Amino acid sequence: MAGSSGLTKSAEKIEALAKAGAGAIVLKSIFEEEIVFEHEDILKEAEAAGVHLEQFDYYDFHLKGKKLSEYTSLIQEAKAKVQVPVIASINCVYSHEWVAFARQLQDAGADAIELNMFFLPSDFSRSSQEQEHMYFAVIEKLTGAVSVPIALKISHYFSNLGQMIQRLSQSGVAGLVLFNRFFSPDIDIEKLAIKPSFVFSTPAELAMPLRWIGIMANKVSCDLIASTGIHDGEAVIKQLLAGAKAVQVASSLYKKGPEHIGTLLDTLRDWMGRHNYTSLSDFRGKMSQEASSNPAAYERVQFMKYFS
Ligand SMILES: Cc1cc2nc3c(=O)[nH]c(=O)nc-3n(C[C@H](O)[C@H](O)[C@H](O)COP(=O)(O)O)c2cc1C
Repeated sequence: MAGSSGLTKSAEKIEALAKAGAGAIVLKSIFEEEIVFEHEDILKEAEAAGVHLEQFDYYDFHLKGKKLSEYTSLIQEAKAKVQVPVIASINCVYSHEWVAFARQLQDAGADAIELNMFFLPSDFSRSSQEQEHMYFAVIEKLTGAVSVPIALKISHYFSNLGQMIQRLSQSGVAGLVLFNRFFSPDIDIEKLAIKPSFVFSTPAELAMPLRWIGIMANKVSCDLIASTGIHDGEAVIKQLLAGAKAVQVASSLYKKGPEHIGTLLDTLRDWMGRHNYTSLSDFRGKMSQEASSNPAAYERVQFMKYFS
């Protein structure tokens, strides 16, 4: 699958990804925050110009409507151009907004909805239970509001990650994407300024989602989809062997173009041929923690042996 990124924000780019062999496309997220910030900017500008805008009306009927209609048009255009599933992605801040957004995206033809949901646990006044509850509250509202499958794309910032993944898998979502990779800060030591850190992942980042797909496979009640650090066909094979139902790629498509999907698939087909596999189900999960002959390897965390 082509993961959510700037490469999936236009119908032309989406068409190129589908032509290259993507099995599904996750659209660039629509961000509620962005809509709210834009709204605040416009209100400030209007105020400075002495124009009185009726806050609620302007936000609800004009700005939000415009952003949403651009996004629903993208869904419609993409659906007209490609045969593979088009998955809308939403990132909202306030739980009541998620529901309204999702329903409109479903009505526009989205085959599924991916929730790009992340609250950085940096609010010291909020307990881990309160933090975690926010995820379940949104999912409960959403699953009651739309009929298309919902995938939840999460981070690994949970105090008991294994239990949280298991509980989320039982919440009514059809899939969990492990893991999202976020925009992170870096420091420019000459200008003493905060700047963006590495925007693209490296192949080494495969390790974290690989461990958790491997540990959680067969212990969850929904599909697991791997994301982060998949740069070559070998990484695709590893994630499928660990138990992933599907994989998402973003950084490697930025670096190598949409055609890279064809290269990933060639490697996969070649390897399947050499191992006499004819379908993904022949080997999916064969190397998960449960199926592996060395399950402890998934939980080994210290480098003891290497340094002694
Ligand atoms: C430039 C860029 C933009 C992204 N935008 C989004 C986004 O809008 N929504 C989202 O859920 N993930 C977004 N992502 C995260 C990717 O979907 C993906 O989860 C992450 O990059 C890890 O996968 P990778 O190693 O294949 O890049 C973005 C990633 C990049 C590099």
